[in-house]
Amino acid sequence: MCGIVGYAGSVGNAKDIIIDGLKRLEYRGYDSSGVALICNGKLEVRKRVGRIANLEELIKGETFDSKVGIGHTRWATHGAPSDANSHPHTSPDGSIAVVHNGIIENYVELKEWLIKEHGITFRSEVDTEVIVHLISVFFEGNLEDAVFKAIAMLRGAFSIGVVCKNDPDKVIGFRRNAPMIAGIGKGCNFIASDIPAILKHVREIYLIENNEMVVITKDDIKIYDMDRNEMHRDIFHVTWDAESAEKGGYEHFMLKEIHEQPKGLYDTLHRRLDENDMIKLDGINLTKEHLENFNKIYIVACGTAYHAGLVGKFTIEKMAHIPVEVEVASEFRYRDPFVDDKTLFIAVSQSGETSDTLEALREAKRKGARVLSVVNVVGSSVARESDDVFYTWAGPEIAVASTKAYTTQLMSMYIIALYMGITKGTIDKAYYEEFIKDLKAIPEKAKAALATEPSLQVFARELYKNEHVFFIGRGPDAGVSYEGSLKLKEISYINSFAIAAGELKHGTIALIEKDTVVVALATQDKLYEKMLSNIQEVKARGAYVIGLAKEGNDKIEKQADKVIYIPECRDELTPLLSVIPLQILAYYIAKERGCDIDKPKNLAKSVTVE
Ligand code: F6R
Repeated sequence: MCGIVGYAGSVGNAKDIIIDGLKRLEYRGYDSSGVALICNGKLEVRKRVGRIANLEELIKGETFDSKVGIGHTRWATHGAPSDANSHPHTSPDGSIAVVHNGIIENYVELKEWLIKEHGITFRSEVDTEVIVHLISVFFEGNLEDAVFKAIAMLRGAFSIGVVCKNDPDKVIGFRRNAPMIAGIGKGCNFIASDIPAILKHVREIYLIENNEMVVITKDDIKIYDMDRNEMHRDIFHVTWDAESAEKGGYEHFMLKEIHEQPKGLYDTLHRRLDENDMIKLDGINLTKEHLENFNKIYIVACGTAYHAGLVGKFTIEKMAHIPVEVEVASEFRYRDPFVDDKTLFIAVSQSGETSDTLEALREAKRKGARVLSVVNVVGSSVARESDDVFYTWAGPEIAVASTKAYTTQLMSMYIIALYMGITKGTIDKAYYEEFIKDLKAIPEKAKAALATEPSLQVFARELYKNEHVFFIGRGPDAGVSYEGSLKLKEISYINSFAIAAGELKHGTIALIEKDTVVVALATQDKLYEKMLSNIQEVKARGAYVIGLAKEGNDKIEKQADKVIYIPECRDELTPLLSVIPLQILAYYIAKERGCDIDKPKNLAKSVTVE
C-alpha cells in the first residue's frame, strides 16, 4: 500500500520522472499524491487529495528545475484523505520532506514527546508526520545520521523516502517490513516501492533488505545496515519487458490481464517441465523423505490467493495423501495453530508483501514448519523468507483486482500436487502422464474460454442494475464461486455473496426471491445432477439463474435462464477455465456501472498493513 518513488540524477527533470513513476504505482493507493523537489537550493512541495491527475492539474504551468526529489501515492491508514494528510510531510522550517508507506505503531507517544520536549506543532493527522519531525530534531548537517537516529525510535512496518535541502544531492530510503528497491541508472539512480515505477528507466536493481538504509545520489547507491556497515548486494536483472507493465491497447489493465491468462498458464507450466515432461522444481528442495515426514499441510493466504488455496486443497490431498487445511492469514496468525516440524506451510501471494501472509509465515516458521511459497513478485519478502519458492509466471499484475495471478496460482497448485504425488509414489506414472497431458492443453482451452467475452458483454448489459448477486457451486466450483463473487463485488460494488450450493438451504436461501440473480457453477461431472437440483431450488423461489457448465453438458439449459460454456476438461482442472467468464462478467458489469475498474474504491494492490 502507498507507493514511493525517489530520483537523483542528471537525466531529465525529477518532477516528470517522479510523476510518471507515481502513475505506474497508482495501483498501490490513490487517495492522494504529492512530490517534494529540490530546486536551486529550495524544497518545493506540492500535494493534492484524489488521483494523480489532480496533482498534475495543481502543478500545471509550474516549471521546477529539479534533479532530486521524492513522490508518493497514498492509501490512507491514519487520517482521512485530504490535502493536509497527503505526503510528503515537511519539517517545521520546510527543509526536510518525508514520504512513507506503512504504519508507525508508537506514533502517539512519539507525537506527545515531540510536542512536550520540542514544542512541535502538528499539521496533519497522519503517523508519518512524527518521522519528519524526529529527523529534523536530530539533523545536525548529515541526513544519514538524523535518519538513523529517527528510525531507532520507530516501531512498526514501514518504508520511507527522505530529502533535505541542506543535504541536497541525495535521496535516502529505509525499509522495515515494507517493500523498497533501488534502481541503477546511468547518471541517475532511483528508489521505489515496486519495479513498474522505474522499469522505463532501469532494468538493474538492488533489492533492499529489512532494516537497511539506501542512499542514492546521481552517481552512486550505498546500502547500510542498522550498524552502518556498508552492505554488498548482487544486482537483480528484471526480465519483464517494459510493455508488460503497460496497458497495451486495452482500456483497462484488468482486461489486459484477463487476456494474458493463456500465456501466464503456459509459462507457469512449461518453466517447470523438462524435455520428458517431468516436473523440475529448481530452487525447491522437497525430497521423498521430506514429503513422507509431513503429516499436515496448511495453505495460508488472503483474498484471491486464499481462494486459489481452496481449490489447491482438493488436488494436493488427492495426489499427495496429506490432509490440507486452508486458512486466511489474518486468522491463522492469531489463533495459535497446531504447527510443528511435520507441517508444510504453503504461503500463496501475488505481491509477496502482504503483511498478514508474511506474519503468518513467520509464525509457522517459529513453530518449526517448513515454508514453501507460491509467489509472483520475484525477490519479494514472502519469497525471501521461505525455505522454498515456487514462482508463478503471471508477469506484473497491475489491476487491483487479481486475475492472472489467480489462475497461475491454481496452475502452481496442480504442479505442486503432481510433484508430491509422483515423488511420494501416491500417484502412478500413467496417471501423472495423463494429467500432464491435460494440463498442457489448458492454455489453448483458456483462449477458448476467453471467447465467451462478447456474450458476457450482453449479459452484463442486462444485469448491471442488480444490487445483489449470489454465486453457488460444489467441490472445486465452490472455491471458484468465492473468487467470482469477490471479483464482482470489489470492482462493481454489487453486494455479491458466494456459498457452497448444498449449504444454501441451511439459511441463505431465505434471501432468494423473484429475479434474484444466481450464478450457478456446474462444471463437476460427478456433482452435476446435484447442482441441477440446487438450481431447481433457487428457480422455485423465482431466481434468475446463469449457469456455467462444460461444453456438452447441456441438460442445464432446461433449468438455467442463461448458460455459459467452458471447454471440456477433466473435473479437477475446470477452475482454470471457469473463473475466466466470471472475471469477464465482473469486468463488463463494472464497466456498465461506470466504475473505476483498475482502481476500485477503498482498495490497494499490495496490502502491507494489518
Ligand atoms: C482481490 C485481490 C486481493 C489479493 C489479496 C492478497 O482481487 O487482489 O484479495 O488477492 O490482497 O494479495 P497477495 O496475493 O498479493 O498476497
